[in-house]
Formats: sequence, C-alpha cells, structure tokens
Amino acid sequence: MSSEQPLVIGIETSCDETGVGIVRGTTLLADAIASSVDEHARFGGVVPEVASRAHLQAMVPTISRALSTAGIAPADVDAVAVTAGPGLAGALLVGVAAAKAYALALGKPLYGVNHLSAHVAVDLLEHGPLDEPCIALLVSGGHSSLLLVPRVGGADVTELGATVDDAAGEAFDKVARLLGLPFPGGPPIDRLAGEGDAGAIAFPRGLSGARDPAFAFSFSGLKTAVARWVEARRRAGEPVPAADVAASFQEAVADVLSAKAVRAAREHGVGHLIVGGGVAANSRLRALAEQRCAAAGIRLRIPRPGLCTDNGAMVAALGAQLVAHGATPSKLDIPADSTLPITAVLV
Ligand code: KG4
Ligand code: ZN
Repeated sequence: MSSEQPLVIGIETSCDETGVGIVRGTTLLADAIASSVDEHARFGGVVPEVASRAHLQAMVPTISRALSTAGIAPADVDAVAVTAGPGLAGALLVGVAAAKAYALALGKPLYGVNHLSAHVAVDLLEHGPLDEPCIALLVSGGHSSLLLVPRVGGADVTELGATVDDAAGEAFDKVARLLGLPFPGGPPIDRLAGEGDAGAIAFPRGLSGARDPAFAFSFSGLKTAVARWVEARRRAGEPVPAADVAASFQEAVADVLSAKAVRAAREHGVGHLIVGGGVAANSRLRALAEQRCAAAGIRLRIPRPGLCTDNGAMVAALGAQLVAHGATPSKLDIPADSTLPITAVLV
C-alpha cells in the first residue's frame, strides 16, 4: 500500500442492488449501481432468486463501470471489501464469491463487512472523518436500531435498542401497498406526503410511553392503525385522503425515530448523531432530526439520499476504515451470513 490513503473497492449484493464503489480513504471515486427493483415491483417485494440472478448478470459490468469511472486498473486497489451479511443468502453469495475471486486473483486482502455498519460508515464520504463516538440511527428495509458507536468502522458497537417487530422501511413498504403505491414504498410515500397534512390524523407513536424501553421501536401497531383507518373510510364509502394518510403516517415514524435518537445521544453524552439506511433518505425524518438535533446541541450527519439506500460506496467506505486502522483481513473461506448480527463489523 502506498503512503496515500487506502484505495478500496467495495461490493454490495445483499438485496436488489448490485453496487460497486471505489474510495480512497474517505474520498468517493466511483459509485456504480445496477438495480433489479423493476423485476420485483409486480410481486410487491424482493424475490430472492430473481435478485441473485440479476446480481450474477450485473456483477462484472458494474465492476468495470466503477473502475472506469474511478480511472483505475484492478491492480491499483489495496483491498477488496464486500457485504458478507446480513441480507438474502443467495444474493450475498454472488457478491462474496466475486470479491473472493478478485482478492485472490489480485493478491489483495479481502474484508467481509457488515451491511449495517457500512450504512453508517458511508457518512464519512459525505462529511469527512469523525474522530469521536457517535450514536447511529440505522433505519432500513430490514432493520431499525440505535447504536452506540465508539469509532465509525471500529469494533465494540453496542446496540442500545432495536425494533421489536417491523423495521421502519418495512412499515413504509406496507403502508404504500395499502394505499396502492408502488414498491419500494418509501419514495412514493415521501412524495405524496408533501401534498398532505401531517397533523390530519393522530396515528400512534409506538413504545413512546414513560414505562416503555427508551431505545426500542415498534411499527407494527402503527401499520395496523393506518390499515384500520383506511378500511373504515372505504367501508363507509368515503374517499381516502391518501396524501393526509401518507403525511400523518410519515410524521409518526419520523417523530419516534428522531425523538429516540436525540434522547440516546443526550443520555450517553455523545455529541454526534449519524442517520443511515434507506429510510434516512426520508425528507421529513431529515428535517425533524435536523430541528431536534439543533435544539439539543447535537451535530447531525446524514449522507445525501443517494448514499442512504444500498450502494457499493458504503462497503468501500467501511473497508477503507478497516484497512486504515489495521484490522485483520477476512479469510478467503468466509461464508455469506444472512443473519450476521448488527454488532459484528467484520467477518
Ligand atoms: O437500506 P435500504 O436501501 O435496503 C435495506 O438494507 O433494507 O433500505 C430500503 C428501505 C425500503 O423499505 C424503502 O422503502 C426505504 O428504505 N426508503 C425510504 C425512502 N427511500 C427508501 N423510506 C422512507 N422515505 C424514503 N424517501
Ligand atoms: Zn441497506
């Protein structure tokens, strides 16, 4: 490795995006993505076998595209990072196999990383290094957690709380379906909510009572409340004010997520909050978190929306942190682990 910051290629295939990112340290050089989302839309969710096949087809072209955008040759990279889990087993396998092949052929170290940690580390590409502890609010299609992170990309991550039922993104996807909006539901709800009144309907804030666990989330009751409200309107033959439903639902999610994240930062005496994962692209969550962090004197870091949803740059960003801090590379026989725990940064 040169005296410069490490040049790392990152491969992401945990769900329906084939992502290949290239970073040098905390500088983003390329972020190539091929998505199979259109192939899943008519099923209302990601079909694992379809996703795996799409990854196989997209892998080599996406790697070529990333290399050419970054203007580097394969042999220039210092390390190969890949999402080893959690995610869809077959989809993960495609990325892990490709990364092993590149690492072996190039004689470069392999880093099998946690997809969730990568959602946090990607912020370094946007806002630069962070040399102190932070709270991370991780909100994606499959996870919703609050983490105490001593150093982004480092070990010893503590999970302060997580959802006890649905993930935040899952709630967006289910409510979108209920309103007849396309999959994935987050972006269309976000758009529709912009035309509605967030105070129109008082939907419940899960686990927000004085006796409830401070850092746990629950979105299943909210989803059911939205479904009941919409059904009652339909039964009565009344029109469903979809924009108001979307805005009121989105407000309930953003309210709970931002309130608990700010409380976590305060109670742990931490000055920074990073929000990551697909739901971090949500405009209302971003605005409310901004407002509440400013009031509490907490510095908020949220990557731009394009880096919040799944991509390869996040994997490369985490890989570069691991290389820079001298982490031991993964063995070439690491498995793809669909249920990798959130606290395991490196496999
Ligand atoms: O992190 P991600 O791309 O994939 C997973 O690791 O799960 O997150 C996908 C989730 C989906 O549930 C999608 O509906 C949600 O993120 N999402 C959003 C927005 N954009 C994506 N949710 C709310 N508002 C958005 N703008
Ligand atoms: Zn993700």
